[in-house]
Amino acid sequence: MRSKVTIVGAGFVGSTAAHWIATKELADVVLLDIVEGVPQGKSLDLAEAGPIEGYDLSITGSNDYADTANSDVIVVTSGAPRKPGMTREDLIKINANITRECISKAAPLSPNAVIIIVNNPLDTMAYLARQVSGFPKNRVIGQAGVLDSARYRTFLAMEIGVSVEDIQAMLMGGHGDEMVPLPRFTTVAGIPISQFVSEERLQAIIDRARKGGGEIVNLLKTGSAYYAPSAATVQMVEAVLKDKKRVLPCAAFLEGEYGLNDIYFGVPCVIGANGVERIIELPLNDEELALVKKSAEVVSSSIAALKAV
Ligand code: LAC
Repeated sequence: MRSKVTIVGAGFVGSTAAHWIATKELADVVLLDIVEGVPQGKSLDLAEAGPIEGYDLSITGSNDYADTANSDVIVVTSGAPRKPGMTREDLIKINANITRECISKAAPLSPNAVIIIVNNPLDTMAYLARQVSGFPKNRVIGQAGVLDSARYRTFLAMEIGVSVEDIQAMLMGGHGDEMVPLPRFTTVAGIPISQFVSEERLQAIIDRARKGGGEIVNLLKTGSAYYAPSAATVQMVEAVLKDKKRVLPCAAFLEGEYGLNDIYFGVPCVIGANGVERIIELPLNDEELALVKKSAEVVSSSIAALKAV
């Protein structure tokens, strides 16, 4: 039987995620949005590319949650994007209302789905989605680490002059400027990154990766990134649908891991059919732990702000 993926939000991230799903022929797609015509138009347009690109899927647009029933994965992209000068936290109130509405409508119709949260502030919205859905923690995941590490890997590949495919990198923390790229767990084809870049250049690249989302916002001026965020999301969707057991940095609900509790936070996860099947605890040194703690404080204060709205 074919898999079914619902994407809530037919904006740039949502519709581009549908595009990646189609080109990889992963699942039937329902693209849902409150705006009438837009999800229908985008999905029809995407379906009409099928004969050219050679994918054979049902891609439909809808304004009605009933059409999302029995999805295997629900991706939530809907929400306001950042504009220049805004932090992801500035979006809490508006996006919390949107997330609450989407999850309360979509989750009961697909009680066995894995929910992937993409809207910002990412970790906080994942926290909210778990509360609202009542799903077990493993079936509510936040995207971000895959995107953030992809940016870090891109900048490293540009610097070193090797294929991005050969850069492996792990990264932890909230999806914000305090995220924690981990050079000790970054390699070029298994060779430590320190063999290829000076400490000074590495720090500059880490800094650019941390601010990677803002770099795109400042260039676009009217919205935020969508190609890499949607590609990152679809890598997670694929890991779930194919039960791949991929080791990916994702925002997961923590209960004691890394000394953190009651928080969604980016950690290395094994992603398969059951969502977050395992959290990998890296042996961090004191310096790395301090950075993780600092990032966790930012996420905790964002979750506290959520509770206050
Ligand atoms: C980014 C936004 C989507 O990092 O959070 O591009």
